[in-house]
Amino acid sequence: MKISRLFGSSIHDMAIDLGTVNTVVHVRDRGIVLNEPSVIAIETIKGVRRVKVVGNEAKLMMGKTPANIQAIRPLRDGVIADIDVAEQMIKHFMAKAIGGTGWFNRRHEVVICVPTGSTMVERRALRVAAMNAGASNVQLIEEPMAAAIGAGLPVTEPRGAMIVDIGGGTTEVAVLSLQGIAYSNSVRVGGDKLDDAIASHIRRHHNLMIGEATAERVKHAIGAATPPDGEGRLLRVKGRDLVNGRPAEIGISEAEIADALSEAVGQIKAAVMSALEQTAPELSADIIDEGITLTGGGALLSRFDEALADATGLPVKVADDALICVAMGAGKALEDSAYAGVLSAA
Ligand SMILES: Nc1ncnc2c1ncn2[C@@H]1O[C@H](COP(=O)(O)OP(=O)(O)OP(=O)(O)O)[C@@H](O)[C@H]1O
Ligand SMILES: [Mg+2]
Repeated sequence: MKISRLFGSSIHDMAIDLGTVNTVVHVRDRGIVLNEPSVIAIETIKGVRRVKVVGNEAKLMMGKTPANIQAIRPLRDGVIADIDVAEQMIKHFMAKAIGGTGWFNRRHEVVICVPTGSTMVERRALRVAAMNAGASNVQLIEEPMAAAIGAGLPVTEPRGAMIVDIGGGTTEVAVLSLQGIAYSNSVRVGGDKLDDAIASHIRRHHNLMIGEATAERVKHAIGAATPPDGEGRLLRVKGRDLVNGRPAEIGISEAEIADALSEAVGQIKAAVMSALEQTAPELSADIIDEGITLTGGGALLSRFDEALADATGLPVKVADDALICVAMGAGKALEDSAYAGVLSAA
């Protein structure tokens, strides 16, 4: 008898979108059960390192930790930068997603989403991390495929569909058809680069140093992919004055932020244009009808859809639930055998 049978209802299959910025977990028959920042705080006491908090609580600590605590983001540019810490984070999130006791007595089929550009070494590292965290079997799914399934696109049909997943670390552009990826292209530009652009603009033009978390808040509040009419929305921003070193506050406009973001937004537009140029003509014809679907948190930047529609001349729409689309699609691929072809052994 297979072990999975033995444990019957205690099977906890799950799909994990281990993003650069957010980790989202989907559990079979339960849906999305966890959606938290990919941040872990490690405390060192008398030379011994231990996990203090993970996720939401750890993100609140970023940039504010005392010397013996480090709030770390173990993923950068969509791939694992610190494998040991990433493993601890995966372990914590897997346990939290399921809850209860007897974690290691259970069988966990795990699907992990990977960027199309990731190497064999990176894929193996993820697999090992998930196995060490308690997975019994690990399969991988390409992120744009998961995003497309999550967005409800017809990926099992002989029809081309274009997905642009704008995450925190990377933007993935892919053309999908018949459960396969006909074209894909990934650029290391996403939400993090937009935050950096905002912080460096404010530093250069206002002599104000702001942290990562503040830059992200500015982006959410008044960020935009195209200039507004006039100055647009206005915001007060607090940080440290570079000249006198004191805490200070400045006023900033949407027009200014849109200008600061234009270069990074331009790089994403260029990746989409290059994907369109390299797509086979039959699939291009489908994309004219279907348009482009945007997923990922970056897709929520004000007027990103309009900017891409202008650049490409195609209809562009932001998927419902853009932030959890990838995990939902991966979960669906695990649950529904019609999608079996999109999963691969790690
Ligand atoms: N309303 C919004 N406006 C602009 N950006 C947003 C908004 N909401 C979320 N974001 C940005 O989306 C990014 C996170 O998106 P997402 O969770 O899809 O990334 P990820 O999956 O963790 O990263 P990756 O796929 O690159 O590994 C962050 O940079 C966040 O600031
Ligand atoms: Mg993502």
